[in-house]
Order: sequence, then structure tokens, then C-alpha cells
Amino acid sequence: MEKLLNAANTAKLWADSIPYMLQFRVLNTISSVTGEPLRNPQHFKKYAPKLLKDLNKAFYEDSKDLHEGLYPLELRKPIEIKKQLSGFKNILFDYPKVLKRKKKKETKVDSNYPDYFSRTFHFQTDGYTSKESADLYDQQVEILFTGSANVMRRLLIKELTPFIDQNSKILEQACGTGISSLMMAKAFKKSHITATDLSHEYLEYANEYNKLNNISYLHSDATNMDNIDDAQFDVVYSVFLHHELPSKQRKLAIEEMIRKLKPGGYGAILDSAQIHDVPHYEDILLEFPKRYHEPFYTNYVKNPLEDILRESGVTIINSSTRFLSKCVVFKKL
Ligand SMILES: C[S@@+](CC[C@H](N)C(=O)[O-])C[C@H]1O[C@@H](n2cnc3c(N)ncnc32)[C@H](O)[C@@H]1O
Repeated sequence: MEKLLNAANTAKLWADSIPYMLQFRVLNTISSVTGEPLRNPQHFKKYAPKLLKDLNKAFYEDSKDLHEGLYPLELRKPIEIKKQLSGFKNILFDYPKVLKRKKKKETKVDSNYPDYFSRTFHFQTDGYTSKESADLYDQQVEILFTGSANVMRRLLIKELTPFIDQNSKILEQACGTGISSLMMAKAFKKSHITATDLSHEYLEYANEYNKLNNISYLHSDATNMDNIDDAQFDVVYSVFLHHELPSKQRKLAIEEMIRKLKPGGYGAILDSAQIHDVPHYEDILLEFPKRYHEPFYTNYVKNPLEDILRESGVTIINSSTRFLSKCVVFKKL
């Protein structure tokens, strides 16, 4: 019976991923016409069967977590076609600018943010520095991962469940639009999440659309969190931050996580899988930054997070992967 339920819930995830696959196809067709396909056709041919198998495994594992009550059903909101269509219309409207930027290799954004941040990440308009970009962000990420982004994000819930009690104080670095904050706040209803980001514009979006009683959004730079008291959180985490940081800032962000944790507290980093996690996908990982503007990604995938964490003095509790993502959990002694 359990297996049947998990299979049915896996099938639902497949059904929900179809609209994203179609949107990816449309964008890839437009991109290919202009000579900038979104993926390497040879790689796709070689790796598609394995990728589909691993995607199915991720969907199945996530369905098992749902069945085991690790997260509430409300996190599996079926996709709203009307919202998708309107979002996709806006993505398409913006797309000529993305393609032009990509062709001209325009990677800088004019802003008062630090240099490494003032970039057109993924070649998206304004990088992370405008509300318009925040409006498109969540759907664009799901299109990129063909409907598996939230499934990958939910690995964080599974990995942190043993370490989150009632009333835990949780800190999130780089919450973006608040999509992971909302997910965590719904999974751990009695905890409180202080969700931070460097982008004022993304925080504004999070505050407008992803509010909940047990989340407070706060501006803070992950590499310098002086505006937050030290050693006061039971749990600190980030989602999809580290691959977008230069190595110096990556180390600083980890040190800030540790500084904000109480002794005995737990941290978790959910991000892209690195080469040592999935050596069989090395080609795919190294291709990604060539197609999307990800200036620090190659350095990220070659330098294990586990090593940086150990050098920073924490104990690794677990490191696991789900599809193209990984989650490392550590403890501050
Ligand atoms: C790929 S997005 C991930 C957002 C979100 N966590 C998610 O799951 O979609 C990267 C985020 O990191 C934020 N960011 C980058 N550098 C940062 C820094 N130094 N401090 C805080 N946030 C930062 C960006 O503003 C952006 O919201």
C-alpha cells in the first residue's frame, strides 16, 4: 500500500513537471534559433536517460518523505495553470533582452551592491537587483530544473528534521523571494525563521508574497551579519547561495553561519551538487556556467563544501545528494 501511494505521489510530481518541461522546450527552441541553446545537445543525448532516472528517484524519495509526514501536503500545491501562463508570458516578454545580453556577454549590473553581486546571474534582467527580476525568479528556476527545484529544496527538511525542536530559532541566509523560508516555516510551524538576503528588492518581494507569522524578513549580508546577535540560533541554513559566491565570500558566509549558531547548534547548506558528489555528471556541471552566467560556479563545484566546513572548525554530520543538488549538515561544537 505504501509503495502504491508513493508511486502515485511520484506520478503527480511528474505531471506537475510537464508544464515546466514544455516551457523549457519553448525557451530552448527560441535560444537555439539565435545560436545560444540552453543545453549542449551532445550532453543531452548522452545523459538524458540517467538524468530522467535520477529525477524519478528524487521524486520518489520526496514522495516517501511526504508519506512519512516529514512535511505537510500543503507544500505540494498543484501548479496553477493560469498563474503559470501569466508568468510565462512575462518571461517570454523579457526573453529578447536575455538573449541579447547573452550574445553580447553583458554580465554587469549597475548597482550599489558589491561587485561580485552586481551581475546578470543566469543572464537574468537586473540580476538580483530589481523587483521585476524577483517577479520572474521562482518560475524561471523551476523551468531550469524542469519542475524539480522545490523537490531538491525539500531535501533540507528531511536532513534538518532530527535537529529542529518545537520553538527552534532558525536563521536563513540568502532567502531570495522567500520560497525556501515559506517551505521551512510550514514544515516547522512552531519554530521561528529569521530570513535574510542582501537584495532589498528580493526581500521586498518576499515580504509581499511569502509572509507568515513565524517568518521575519531582515536585510543582512551573508558575508557580514554584524546586524544580528552572535550565538543565538539553534539552526542556520542557506539554499542555493554558495554557487553564486566567489571563494573568499563563500568562506566568509560559512564563518558567519557558525558565528550565529549557539554552541551545539546545527547548520545546513543546500546547493548544487559538486563534482565529487556526482563525478558521472562532471560534464554537465562544467557546462552549466557556459550557458548561464554563473561566474563562480566552476570554482564552487571543484571545491568541496565539506572541506571548507571542516577547515572552519565544525563537524560534518551528513552529506547527501538529491538529483543535481546536495545538502551538507554540520554541528558547531
Ligand atoms: C540562487 S538565489 C537563491 C534564493 C533562494 N534561497 C532560493 O532557494 O531560491 C541566490 C540568492 O542569494 C542572495 N545573495 C547573494 N549574495 C548574498 C550575500 N552576500 N548575502 C545575502 N544574500 C546573498 C541573492 O540575493 C539571491 O537571493
